[in-house]
Amino acid sequence: MLVLAPGMAGAALLIRFSHVVAEDTPKGLAANRFKALVEQRSEQRIRVAVYPSARLYGDLDEMEALRLGAVEMVAPSLSKFGRIGFPEFELFDLPFLFDSNSEVRRVTQGAIGQRLLVQLRQQGLVGLGYLDNGLKQMSANRPLLEPDDFKGLRMRIQFSRVLASQFKALGARPVPLAFSETARALATGVVDGTENPVSNFWTQGMHKYQTDLSLTDHGYVGYAVVANGRFWNSLSEPDRTLIEQALREALQYGNQIADTQNAKALEALREAGTTRIHVLSPVQRARLRKLVQPVYDELAQRIGASWIEEAQKALGR
Ligand code: LMR
Repeated sequence: MLVLAPGMAGAALLIRFSHVVAEDTPKGLAANRFKALVEQRSEQRIRVAVYPSARLYGDLDEMEALRLGAVEMVAPSLSKFGRIGFPEFELFDLPFLFDSNSEVRRVTQGAIGQRLLVQLRQQGLVGLGYLDNGLKQMSANRPLLEPDDFKGLRMRIQFSRVLASQFKALGARPVPLAFSETARALATGVVDGTENPVSNFWTQGMHKYQTDLSLTDHGYVGYAVVANGRFWNSLSEPDRTLIEQALREALQYGNQIADTQNAKALEALREAGTTRIHVLSPVQRARLRKLVQPVYDELAQRIGASWIEEAQKALGR
């Protein structure tokens, strides 16, 4: 977007970057780092306006806003691409597929990751890169350690068919909700529990409404940074290079701090004392893992088994 800022020589370029999480999260910090690098290196000729916490657009309208050019960049969770026509991204929602952020990067930084970003061009979107948050933990007002613990619980999920199947396989009732609505839904009893990396659980204040956090490490939340295609193609080569390099460094920074951010949030949660924290035994985790296996076959039916096989091969499985 070109802006004629008063007192600014020539037209400045404005990049509006909208996302749905708090600033003190891997994505929030990476977005702010991107802003700092772009503005510093362009000597303020290119400005970045970051809109965190769904202040501008949330889960249900950020991709439409991007397509319409109301914003230039967003960084949705990989779980949110299936709903807009890219079901292959739900690969990253498969429960117990990944045991760490570094394992995920063996997929996102490889052929699969690049192929998925190229797919986004079908809708005039430019996939620019991936960013980690971390492994998800289950929360509710009871410990979630054994399959029976999930029975009948209304669990908030992102808008993902894999996540809906995951909770149905556990005997729970999945409730898709926008991220920005989740804390309120927990507070008012619209849902009984949810799944998050601890950095999101803590920064959204969910701990005020959840008595138990069970460290299941059962899934992953990460992001793809996406730009509006018309905006991206309108950039001069030097500006595109400057922006790409700044984003590369910002994503490296975000990936470096993601694990630390989640560890800091867990420590803060322990100190707050609001929520009991449970560690599952290997046997308990294995029981949950066994129960959700049908989710793999369902996704294979929808996107083709080769995507899953290639991911498992990249993980050395
Ligand atoms: C969620 O909706 O739970 C997460 O995707 C939010 C985020 O962007 O981390």
